[in-house]
Amino acid sequence: MTANNIVEFRQVTKTFNVGREDEFTAIRDITFAIEDLHGHGEFISVLGPSGSGKSTILRLLAGLEPQHPPTSGQVLVSGVPVLGPGADRGMVFQDYTSFDNRTVLDNVAFGLECRGVSKTERYSKAREWIHRVGLNVASDGGKYPHELSGGMRQRVAIARTLILHPRIILMDEPFGALDPHNRYQMQDLLVTLWREVQATVFFVTHSIEEAVYLGDRVFILSRSPGTILHQIEVPAPVRPAAEMQREAEFQEKVFRIRDILEDLESVKKNQDATVT
Ligand SMILES: Nc1ncnc2c1ncn2[C@@H]1O[C@H](COP(=O)(O)OP(=O)(O)OP(=O)(O)O)[C@@H](O)[C@H]1O
Ligand SMILES: [Mg+2]
Repeated sequence: MTANNIVEFRQVTKTFNVGREDEFTAIRDITFAIEDLHGHGEFISVLGPSGSGKSTILRLLAGLEPQHPPTSGQVLVSGVPVLGPGADRGMVFQDYTSFDNRTVLDNVAFGLECRGVSKTERYSKAREWIHRVGLNVASDGGKYPHELSGGMRQRVAIARTLILHPRIILMDEPFGALDPHNRYQMQDLLVTLWREVQATVFFVTHSIEEAVYLGDRVFILSRSPGTILHQIEVPAPVRPAAEMQREAEFQEKVFRIRDILEDLESVKKNQDATVT
């Protein structure tokens, strides 16, 4: 059964600073499984109040310290416990910057360079990916990260990750800093690329519209210590972001989820008021 799950969390709890005065449990007893479906990587959107442990979950899956290892429970990828970062998992974070001293071309080619791929082949693949994420090879390939807009930087981050064909892509608020127009464009791009690469995606966002549009399933976390309160199936992104997100049926899903999240926030406010 386990081998059929690409990702599985079994009663995963993460407590930071164990045994110290500032000991803090960020997530508790997180259990879920993402089935390894042939020819279809599932897109999981993750929503939850700030501090509910969304980034903690992603970083545990990435095998990054200090979130990794979990305090208790198991994080499994294809049935095998995560021991650290690996080529099967790629990451795109909001504040994830490429190497400042490398051009776009060298940033995109970096992962292949680490794998020992020849210069001709890695540059050829890098050019292909620069093009696929909507950048211009001739005019952007030689630019350094500080010469790029936020949207362009995230395109580079996506190209850098996808060029390595990870089976799992971890995205932590990747479009959080973009204006609405750029954000729609990036959502459309991500849908197109995701259909091509068929990876399993974990996508953390604070935008309910983005979560509902991109996701096959939306996970909603409780306030901290985070636990998964709801797993909601949502319709596939079959039309462009700007179009579909205006439709009544879509808005209805969004409102339903907004009510759930607002309830979580209002419980917190009431509790805070009692404490003070
Ligand atoms: N290294 C750490 N040491 C101690 N506490 C930590 C550490 N990393 C995270 N935490 C705490 O764990 C909780 C969950 O953090 P996490 O970053 O996972 O939340 P999040 O859901 O991603 O929040 P946001 O939406 O604001 O990004 C927070 O209260 C945070 O302060
Ligand atoms: Mg976070």
